[in-house]
Amino acid sequence: MTTEEIKKILEAELDKKRFTHSIGTAETAVKLAKKFDIDPVRIEIAGLLHDCAKGMSVDNQIDFAYKHSIELDPWLLKNPGIIHTKIGAYLAVHKYGIPENDGEILNSIIYHTTGFADMGMFEKIIYVADYIEPNRDYSKREKFYKSAFDTFEEAVLKITVNKMKYVIKKKTILHPWSIEFYNSLVEARQFSPI
Ligand SMILES: [Fe+2]
Ligand SMILES: [Fe+2]
Repeated sequence: MTTEEIKKILEAELDKKRFTHSIGTAETAVKLAKKFDIDPVRIEIAGLLHDCAKGMSVDNQIDFAYKHSIELDPWLLKNPGIIHTKIGAYLAVHKYGIPENDGEILNSIIYHTTGFADMGMFEKIIYVADYIEPNRDYSKREKFYKSAFDTFEEAVLKITVNKMKYVIKKKTILHPWSIEFYNSLVEARQFSPI
């Protein structure tokens, strides 16, 4: 499926705000990808699709997961706002034709909220682009955006800390993937100072 075909489906299925966010994530991801020599077409597809399941309510996402044998771990069930990541990866394969063995695109969708230990550059770009794209509205967004283009690895860590703080402040469940990702970033930083 081409990016234009994907956009058409997303525009019909997502609300305006989520569709605009998806376009913003894809565009920001492409800019970062060019800087780091990552295939811009593939990253645009990942950026467009990262929230493709957000058109479904959380209840429908859970029903969909059971119906299609998509594994939801207890942490996801306790923090249902993240379930769309797993559903999104399923839809990417079964609806948008992403090959089942395309680990970069599928993992970038599954882990765009939490990250995961030793995440690769492709997946990190989607993780960052989702958080800094210009349609997002929070106080530090511009600062993180600039940081992502100036000192990418440092931005990944700062964004991760900010996300974790947000979850802790709300006293909601912090998925172990986030903690593992944070630890892997800190460890990598100790060995290669930024
Ligand atoms: Fe998302
Ligand atoms: Fe998103």
